[in-house]
Amino acid sequence: MSQCCTNGSEQPYDLSQRVNVEDKRLLNCRAVDVNQLWPLKYEWAWEHYLNGCANNWMPSEVPMQKDVALWHSDRFTEGERLVIMRNLGFFSTGESLVGNNIVLAIFEHVTNPEARQYLLRQAFEEAIHTHTFHYIVESLGLDGREVFNMYNEVDSIKGKDEFVMSLTEAVMRPGFSTASVEGVQDFIKNLVGFYVIMEGVFFYSGFVMILSFHRQNRMTGIGEQFQYILRDETVHLNFGIDLINTIKEENPEAWTPELKDELTRMVRQAVEYEVAYARDCLPEGVLGLNERLFREYVQFIADRRLRRIGIPQQYGSRSPFPWMSETMDLAKEKNFFETRVTEYQSAGSLVWD
Ligand SMILES: [Fe+2]
Ligand SMILES: [Fe+2]
Repeated sequence: MSQCCTNGSEQPYDLSQRVNVEDKRLLNCRAVDVNQLWPLKYEWAWEHYLNGCANNWMPSEVPMQKDVALWHSDRFTEGERLVIMRNLGFFSTGESLVGNNIVLAIFEHVTNPEARQYLLRQAFEEAIHTHTFHYIVESLGLDGREVFNMYNEVDSIKGKDEFVMSLTEAVMRPGFSTASVEGVQDFIKNLVGFYVIMEGVFFYSGFVMILSFHRQNRMTGIGEQFQYILRDETVHLNFGIDLINTIKEENPEAWTPELKDELTRMVRQAVEYEVAYARDCLPEGVLGLNERLFREYVQFIADRRLRRIGIPQQYGSRSPFPWMSETMDLAKEKNFFETRVTEYQSAGSLVWD
């Protein structure tokens, strides 16, 4: 019989029987059998899936003419160009690392159909995000080899990427399994590394920088794309937090003081990586932004993320960018798309003859 969830008892389930909702578990359930979505146990996973679908967008729907004209004008300082280039450099490959981690590390071990349904949706969104950077590079006529290779050329981008890539490799190593407590702990480290740190901390100073241009009505095409990405990432983060907290509940023996200490250390280290990245993006300070403000902001964000996974906050910093929360509220509004026609299931696309 194939591997089954045991729901507290050691009796494997008879796969010919209908699924009981209480039999479902996030880890160590049926890995490759037909995954039965019905009945749902983790309503939050399904909700996040529906929210992700409701947010559908394509980068190529965003007009780029104004950005192209502005980029090729003399209305940018070298410092401002550097901010934009280094953000494109980080996100262009960072998005694909998240997609890789879902496909190569997370999906195999999250053996629950509704959570997998969400992961498939998220993986598609990460592909859309990578597509966005291809589209921006193409529209602005940038050197794509420079942008997409920046993680090899800028130390702080390389530092952030290597930090999360090592967590993917830890789950991909031969013999890795979540059947042991140590395996569950390593898996939680991967989830915290990607959902809390990569998508919850490493993306946010980039959002601030690009959306600062957008607030000045500059590079509004890229700004709008970043708003869509931010909206998607808000759902990714919320899914990740629910996933981590529910795995904690189902595997309380894995949630040890030592693990919490290690996760705290990881987040504190990530804050330093992110501050170094802000310094590399803003060597002179542009748009009224500087390293000190980013340190406060990144610490503020890190505290919020830690609290949500049940770990005490570390810094007590306040946000120097209160407008970011307004931007996120705007991004959550359902009518965000009213400015554009986005009819994915238009009659025209369903005519086959
Ligand atoms: Fe993304
Ligand atoms: Fe994401």
